[in-house]
Amino acid sequence: MLGAGGLALFIVLLCVNAFAMGMAPPSNMEMIDPEKVTETPPFDKPGLKQVGDNEYDAYMTAFAFGFSPTKMEIPVGATVNFHVTSPDVIHGFQIPETNINFMVLPGHISSATHTFDKPGEYLILCNEYCGAGHQVMATTIIVK
Ligand code: CUA
Repeated sequence: MLGAGGLALFIVLLCVNAFAMGMAPPSNMEMIDPEKVTETPPFDKPGLKQVGDNEYDAYMTAFAFGFSPTKMEIPVGATVNFHVTSPDVIHGFQIPETNINFMVLPGHISSATHTFDKPGEYLILCNEYCGAGHQVMATTIIVK
């Protein structure tokens, strides 16, 4: 049974949880003024940063109509944490044959992780219609 005291405690816990999880306004770490994406580190110099033994952070931008960096090379077995944002409109970020498939919203950093166990050339595609150049919006990751 949930008495008045229990209910009050429940509400207090909900509030604490909301603050702790940042459910209210997103922090500055997660949002960037879209117009300033290309001058905001680390997105001013998109690319790979090694963060572990065979683990990388990939900071990328998706824009009309391409991705930066245009080509990335990683060693076989590398785990890559993708962090992607857009300076203009909504784009998609999909790597076929992996579980990577998310939307990229202007100024918002979307993240996902994949371990590339098989060597080869992996395509990164935009799968959200974003304008006249949408069909050619792609880049590659080379795993070797
Ligand atoms: Cu970017 Cu479609």
